Amino acid sequence: MMDDWTNDRTYTWLMSTNTQNQTTIDPAATLDTRFKEAIHAAVPDLPQSQIQTHITASRQPKFGDFQSNCAMPIAKRFKMQPRELAAKIIEHLDVSGVAEPITDANIAGPGFINVTLLPDAISESLGAMDNKQLGIVVPDSPPTVVVDVCGVNLAKQMHVGHLRSTVIGDAIARLYERMGYKVIRQSHVGDWGLPIAMVVEQLITIEDAGEDLSSLTLSELNSMYKKVQAACKAETKALELIQRVGGHAKAEIELNERIADANASLEKAKSRLVALQSGDERSVQVWQRIYDITMNACLSTCKRLHTKITDEHSAGESTYRDELAPLVQDLIDRKIAIEDEGALVVQCDGIKEPTIIRKRDGGFLYATTDLAAIKRRVSKLGGDIVVYCVDSRQSLHFKQVFAAAHKAGYDKTQAGNDATLVHAMFGTVLGDDNKPLKSRSGENLNLTDLLDEAVARASATVAEKNPDMSESDRADISEAVAMAAVKYADLSTERIKDYVMNFDRMLAFEGDTGPYLLYAVVRIRSIFRKANELNIDLSNIESAPFNLNEPSEKALALMLLRYPSLIKNAGQSCEPNRLCSFVYDLASAYSAFFDKCPVLKNNDEQVRASRLRLCDLTGRVLTDALDTLGIPTVERM
Ligand code: ARG
Repeated sequence: MMDDWTNDRTYTWLMSTNTQNQTTIDPAATLDTRFKEAIHAAVPDLPQSQIQTHITASRQPKFGDFQSNCAMPIAKRFKMQPRELAAKIIEHLDVSGVAEPITDANIAGPGFINVTLLPDAISESLGAMDNKQLGIVVPDSPPTVVVDVCGVNLAKQMHVGHLRSTVIGDAIARLYERMGYKVIRQSHVGDWGLPIAMVVEQLITIEDAGEDLSSLTLSELNSMYKKVQAACKAETKALELIQRVGGHAKAEIELNERIADANASLEKAKSRLVALQSGDERSVQVWQRIYDITMNACLSTCKRLHTKITDEHSAGESTYRDELAPLVQDLIDRKIAIEDEGALVVQCDGIKEPTIIRKRDGGFLYATTDLAAIKRRVSKLGGDIVVYCVDSRQSLHFKQVFAAAHKAGYDKTQAGNDATLVHAMFGTVLGDDNKPLKSRSGENLNLTDLLDEAVARASATVAEKNPDMSESDRADISEAVAMAAVKYADLSTERIKDYVMNFDRMLAFEGDTGPYLLYAVVRIRSIFRKANELNIDLSNIESAPFNLNEPSEKALALMLLRYPSLIKNAGQSCEPNRLCSFVYDLASAYSAFFDKCPVLKNNDEQVRASRLRLCDLTGRVLTDALDTLGIPTVERM
């Protein structure tokens, strides 16, 4: 009778819902729900939306598995005695089927409530999680998420900033995919406007002078880009200075000449832009060449980095060119845009700086294109959520554009709701000197050079550890290890923060690094290879009952159970670093388990089967989590 009742409660516990109305198998989430109910019953005056359970994993096993620190803040607010309040909460608390009964003896210190889970509840939850989805429940009608990723600029090589928009952006997209949402990646390529027209103009000039440009590379284009930028930049500031403080007459004449040259180049570029915009055949042809050269290189780097960003995701600024004039007209007609000193601006509540959408000379801006992009992403692509994985230095831009889009109603979804627009911003990659990472010559560090360097270094370590490995295996594994190292280093810091890029640290096979995590998976897989060699029967492993008597087994089980809610939290907050911490904690919990609990050497068949099943589940969760981060695992290393 008692057993039936327990099972029944366990069942409802497994099916209990958390705040997002999803089935959960995470005991912490279940406790959260139960504590919320108890707090509500104990303190009816506390609005339900403000109830916080503050449930955390206990630091020491003697305090149980979890503790709730809810009593102290509520007691303070309602001028109660915290231990008395804790006692009142546990009077209303129903933990049947989840945890051991809670009594006054479980109240510790100023009012912590300690909870010890029922061993059966843990193993049953773990069994329920052990399926193909690893316990992650896909919503019935999943929202659509558009993720702005990569966003390279034409005629420029990818630099280390694009590493972040590519790697973090793709990981955010993968997190949403893993949650079962519909995901659309969009790369807002900077492929339009005056800077590009300058390069087009330059290429045409060179070609007209008889030079053969058929084998032009991106690196050559990149130098050309810098040169034309400099050539078009009038040194008016320097001239002003000379005129003010006085200088050599010859210097002034020279400077004047240079300014005249710059102005002439700029004028040429401007007329080239007009030609390009009106579809002049030669201009478009040259532009297309620049586009192809840039995007071929960019997409091959995206592939090398194991992202899912491909050609179909390129939605460059040029694709909005015909939408800008009608959009601006719409904003004028509806009096959302107003004239300000000849320019056209949108003024939004709470933002001091007006958003300029048309310059005095009639040109459109970065913000104008981004407004058109929001409109397309929400109303055409059906985005309910639009996430921008872009440098934090663009935060004002996105604040302005989001507010202006909202004012204009461009963020209305097909269902008539306001889409959620998120700037998932990231900080800067720094060098050892704590300054933005630069190459030796002081330029932005080229991403390909950086990746090649990581591979060269990884190759040395892999060779050292596997002296007999064939050259081609070593090349493959070094490439995988290097990409894992670079990506994990980038993903595992809080994205908002700047971080220092350090090859030695990120390539280490020990510690919180990509290679260590790949190695953890390799080690788990090798157990099964060994089991096969020892002729251990693995056929019933999938249904072996979990036996969690050792503290390290239980700790590993509790860690595994966190996976489904972790994916959801990391996804919804667009914070892949949370998933990284989890992967590292799981690998550490596994390693503690492996040290304490013999697996293959254990002669008790049931214990061995349970441990093998734990190993298998851990291996699958680690692989799935790394895949969600965009880090493929390897068989050996
Ligand atoms: N091309 C831009 C840059 O390199 C990034 C584009 C970001 N996305 C956007 N929708 N504005 O700074």
